[in-house]
Order: sequence, then structure tokens, then C-alpha cells
Amino acid sequence: PDFEGPALPLAGRHVLITAGPTHEPIDPVRYIANRSSGKQGFAIAAAAARAGARVTLVAGPVHLPTPQGVERVDVQTAREMMAAVEAALPADAAIMVAAVADWRTADAAGQKLKKDGSGQPAPLPLVENPDILATLGRHAKRPALLIGFAAETENVADHARAKLAKKGADWIVANDVSGPPGSSVMGGERNSIHIVTVDGIESWDDLPKDVVATRLIEKVAHALSFRPD
Ligand code: CTP
Ligand code: CA
Repeated sequence: PDFEGPALPLAGRHVLITAGPTHEPIDPVRYIANRSSGKQGFAIAAAAARAGARVTLVAGPVHLPTPQGVERVDVQTAREMMAAVEAALPADAAIMVAAVADWRTADAAGQKLKKDGSGQPAPLPLVENPDILATLGRHAKRPALLIGFAAETENVADHARAKLAKKGADWIVANDVSGPPGSSVMGGERNSIHIVTVDGIESWDDLPKDVVATRLIEKVAHALSFRPD
């Protein structure tokens, strides 16, 4: 066991985690989504539970078992994820690992869209989804420690620093997902990350996702230990 002893480091704390993609329906058989297996977020939820936290895991559509000791809320869309996150507040720490679809269709069709024979696809108007992390960043019940994730394909540290400010987060955990789909981080078992805070940047290279999760939760427990309940 990685966390043991009489005083588990997150005993008495509530940790709120989002994981997986969201699915934004186009019609009853099609959707818009990001590529995300949910593995890293589920591993973080498992590690937080092992550290003694009460854990709420708001999960998009993924095929993963619920980690032991974790309360799971399943959602499909970004708007459902937003509502489930707000319903779970207050939390001591929130870790937003989900790959939320930035856009949804302006109007999901009630029936399957059909080709009309013209060879031209019908237009698909999109509207922006709520930003869950940024909403928490300015929320009356903002968690004491607010952590975002960012998948980037270039200028990883610069983009992460910009997101820290834009979202009102305390840390951004950035991972480099450059490379062809399926080649690297996404869906795989390992991850390389950079933790960007106002104080600087800390990099962890090529670790199994469960090791990233355990170390991140140790860092969360350490940060929360300076804050009263
Ligand atoms: N996020 C969120 N709600 C959204 C979009 C993103 O909560 N609608 C969260 C993600 O869970 C992640 C962080 O914001 O923790 C960064 O996501 P990312 O997609 O990198 O940020 P965006 O602001 O959407 O920027 P980009 O244009 O690069 O996609
Ligand atoms: Ca995005």
C-alpha cells in the first residue's frame, strides 16, 4: 500500500475529480467527442481514495471499473458534467482531468440525419460548452486547491502557464500528446507531465499513470496540509 499509518494524508478531505471525454450528441447515433480513455483520471481517483479522501468522480462515457471507495457519477455531456460538479461542491480539492468537448451542436437532431443525395453534408452549427474548470475558478464555493489538466501538442509549458491565469487554477498539469493518435499518451499506460504553478514548473518523465496519480495525490495532500479544514 502506498498510503498507510494511523493518519491517512487526505482523511476528512473531499476530492472532486472529472475524467474521460464528454459526448455531445449530433443525432441519436452520432456525437462529437475528444479522445480520452479516462485512465489517468480514474487512477487519480483511486489514489485519492487510498489516501483516505472522500472522492467524487464525475465520469464521462468510458469503459473502466469504478475504483474502490470512490463515489462515481456518470454523465454524457459537458453540461451534465458541469451540473454534477456543482452538485458535488464543496470540495477541498478539485482535479479536472476530463477532456471536455469545447463545442456542442446548437441543436441535436431528434432523428438520425440522412444524406440528401446532393453530395453536400448538411451544415452543423456548433456552440461553445461551459468551461467547468474556469467556472470553479471564480465560484463562490471555489475549492481551496484547483487543478486543471492540459493536453498540448506544442509549446506545452507556455500554453499551460496561459491556462493557469485564464482558468483561475492553482496548478495546470500539462502533458505532451504530440504524435499520431494512439501512439503515445492517449489510451496508453504511461504519461509524461509538467506541473505548472505560479512558483515554477516541475516535470515527471515517462511514468506509469498510476505512479503519476500517487505522486500527484501526495502533492495535493502536502498542499492541503497547510490549509485548515
Ligand atoms: N475544461 C473544462 N471545461 C471545458 C474545457 C476544458 O473544465 N469546457 C478543463 C479541462 O478538464 C482541463 C482544462 O480545462 O482541466 C484545460 O482543458 P483544455 O482543453 O486544455 O483547455 P481549453 O481552455 O479548452 O483550451 P484549448 O483551446 O487548448 O482546448
Ligand atoms: Ca479544450
